[in-house]
Parts: sequence; structure tokens; C-alpha cells
Amino acid sequence: MKPSRARSLASSSDQAPGTRPNATAASLDLVLTSLAATESLGRAIGCALTGGDVLALIGALGAGKTAMVRGIAAGLSAPPDAVSSPTFVLVHEYRGRLPLIHIDLYRLHTDAELESIGLSDYFTDRTVVAIEWADRFPAMLPEDRLEVRLTHRSPATRTVRLAAKGPQSRSLLTRIDQARRPGKRPPSSRKKTTTGTRKAPAR
Ligand SMILES: Nc1ncnc2c1ncn2[C@@H]1O[C@H](COP(=O)(O)OP(=O)(O)O)[C@@H](O)[C@H]1O
Ligand SMILES: [Mg+2]
Repeated sequence: MKPSRARSLASSSDQAPGTRPNATAASLDLVLTSLAATESLGRAIGCALTGGDVLALIGALGAGKTAMVRGIAAGLSAPPDAVSSPTFVLVHEYRGRLPLIHIDLYRLHTDAELESIGLSDYFTDRTVVAIEWADRFPAMLPEDRLEVRLTHRSPATRTVRLAAKGPQSRSLLTRIDQARRPGKRPPSSRKKTTTGTRKAPAR
């Protein structure tokens, strides 16, 4: 089942008071009425990725973060059956069109623990990093990331907000919006011209 659209791609208006409006912020709200709808949106995300993307997955236990990553893996042509919650193994890597690094921060408590898994080393232009429980360590994430916030609505329904936090994630969001619509092909796989390693934020 295709995700239904709750609100169009729009400039975000949820800027905190007193902060400078971010001209590159944008968000997309959708209702996901089944597991298949969540995986289908994940596939659209996977198809739209070009490398150097950071997906910050946020939501309660059972919200569908891992299900979303399964769809993303499928969209990258990585074997989706390999995707499971990496709660015990903190980091999984799946090999598809781009390397997909799947990280679960549920059991981590301190910045030092996070540093010990070498998080910032994964943020390169050639990888995609999907992080479950990303809201636990926001200061450790690159500023330009796509937040994927899942919320329970009913046993089978979730809402999701995709929120772009910078220019790269904003263009990713535009490609996702195109990829998830039937009959439309994403302007995908345009290689970005930037090179080098994406910087983690100064802390
Ligand atoms: N619309 C939906 N989207 C995602 N998962 C759903 C949905 N409806 C029911 N589910 C169920 O919710 C659970 C989500 O599990 P999981 O993806 O592991 O969550 P998380 O990683 O957020 O803890 C699965 O058992 C899945 O079958
Ligand atoms: Mg999970």
C-alpha cells in the first residue's frame, strides 16, 4: 500500500522562537497505514539516496524504524532480509548500490560510548548512515540530516514526518517526494560535486 499524503512538501514553520529562519528547512508529513506502506516509503528513500546522506530515525519502540530501514535497504538493492534491529550489534553494514550503515543508539548512554564505535568515521560522501534513536545524541550528528520521525497512530498505522535540516537533505527530500509517486522517476543518482569527508558538528 502506498503512503497517503497528509501534507505537501512545504517550508518548515516549526522554527524555534528566536532562531534565524533556515531557508533550506523543509518537511513532509505522511500517514502510513500498514507495514507495507512504511517499507514502500523506505524503498522510495533508498532509491533517492546519492551518498553522503544521514537519516536520523526517531520514534518509540515498535514505531517502525527498523521496518523503514528494511525498505531503504531494498531501495538501495541491498538484501532487505538481512536487516534486523541492531540492538545487540550496534552497527550493521549492508552492501547495495551504496553502502548502508545501520546504527542503533538505544543501548548507548554517553558521548564517550558513541565515540568508541567511531560514529563520525561513517559520515562520508560514499555512504548512507541510518541511525535509530538518533534523538538521543543530536549533538553528535551532522547538522545536515534528514530526520524521519515515526509516531504510533494505531496498531497498524503510523505517521511520519520527514524533516530536512540542510541543503543536501532538502534536495534528498525533493527526490523522495518524486520517487514515492507512481509513474514519476526520481532525478536520482545525480552525483554530487562535493568531495571529502562530511564533518561532524563542532561540539
Ligand atoms: N504502519 C506500520 N509501519 C511500521 N511497522 C508497523 C506498521 N504497522 C504495524 N507495524 C509493526 O510494528 C513493528 C515495528 O517494528 P520495528 O520496525 O522493529 O520498530 P522500531 O525499530 O521502531 O522499534 C513491527 O512488528 C511491524 O510489523
Ligand atoms: Mg529498531
